[in-house]
Amino acid sequence: MIFLLKVKHENFEDIIMHDEHLNEKSLTPPSGGGGVHDEHLNKESLTPPSGGWGVLCPATVANIVCGFDVLGFAVQDPYDEMRIKLTDSPGIVIVNEDEFNLPTDPEKNVAGAALQAMLDEVPEHPGFELRIRKHIKPGSGVGSSAASAAGAVVAANHLLGNRFSKEDLVRFAMNGEKLASGVKHADNIAPCIYGGVTLVRSIFPLDIVQLSAPPLHVTIVHPQIEVRTSDARSILKQQVQLKDAIRQWGNIAGLVAGLLKSDYELIGRSLEDVLIEPVRSILIPGFDEVKRKSKEAGALGGGISGSGPSLFMLSKDENIAKAVESEMHTIYNRLGLEHYTYVTTINNEGVKLIN
Ligand code: HSE
Repeated sequence: MIFLLKVKHENFEDIIMHDEHLNEKSLTPPSGGGGVHDEHLNKESLTPPSGGWGVLCPATVANIVCGFDVLGFAVQDPYDEMRIKLTDSPGIVIVNEDEFNLPTDPEKNVAGAALQAMLDEVPEHPGFELRIRKHIKPGSGVGSSAASAAGAVVAANHLLGNRFSKEDLVRFAMNGEKLASGVKHADNIAPCIYGGVTLVRSIFPLDIVQLSAPPLHVTIVHPQIEVRTSDARSILKQQVQLKDAIRQWGNIAGLVAGLLKSDYELIGRSLEDVLIEPVRSILIPGFDEVKRKSKEAGALGGGISGSGPSLFMLSKDENIAKAVESEMHTIYNRLGLEHYTYVTTINNEGVKLIN
């Protein structure tokens, strides 16, 4: 527990509060009026459209319990907002439109790092102004850094005439994850960009598989403690026992099969993690009770979202998802721990462009 309290977010992006009534149109448009659709953008001259583009960047649940670093899905709520436009001079300008005082130096900002990786492959040397309004709290375990990195490169690619593939965008955005956690991983980035549930079969070379899934309701609770991904990774064992590995890949295969076959029972049975959860769950107050009470309320199962501290539960219908939320409130109120909850669904669209 002391570990948790000492863990403090320092360098990067992020920090925001829950905003249930987020208005998709609330980003102040940059000066110059409304956006102009850039279908006819001349890739040689990169004439900036006057208003730029906005993007909504969803939170993501990485790992989905058993699929450490390979499985993830995007959710409808929460999400970040960004607006991007081309500028006359080269380089990246970051403007924070929230009260969180995040770094605006592109080298220290996960969106900036992702964008720079993209710019390194753009011969015209364009410049971008990126206005960021985050709602996904950093260190919360629902892909805050991924939302920033993915949103920036999707929006920039749009301004550049969509010259890069989604796979390229994942490759660029992973530089943001490297800055945030010290390691390139794509299990938040991939669902953020592709939407839905994704399997990252490999990152070198990138091999991303989109998985179909039946309707699922997601309950997320974010106890207000902070766990840095880099710390949550550093405590993991580097060796696993063969018997545990066998159990784990049985679960991963079972989960993927359950999703593809819309077999809710199989999905529920496969939401088991014998490798990572036993180590990380000790960092999260109330973990065992949330899991037990959620299942008693009818949830299929769930566990730590990404590297935590958020927990997520999957349910077949919305009423169960709300009953799970109520159990979460009861547990964290009793523990005296401030927390936020979301009852949401899977976002099949990924980063969404808005004008
Ligand atoms: N797979 C990563 C981890 C996700 O669990 O460390 C971090 O959000």
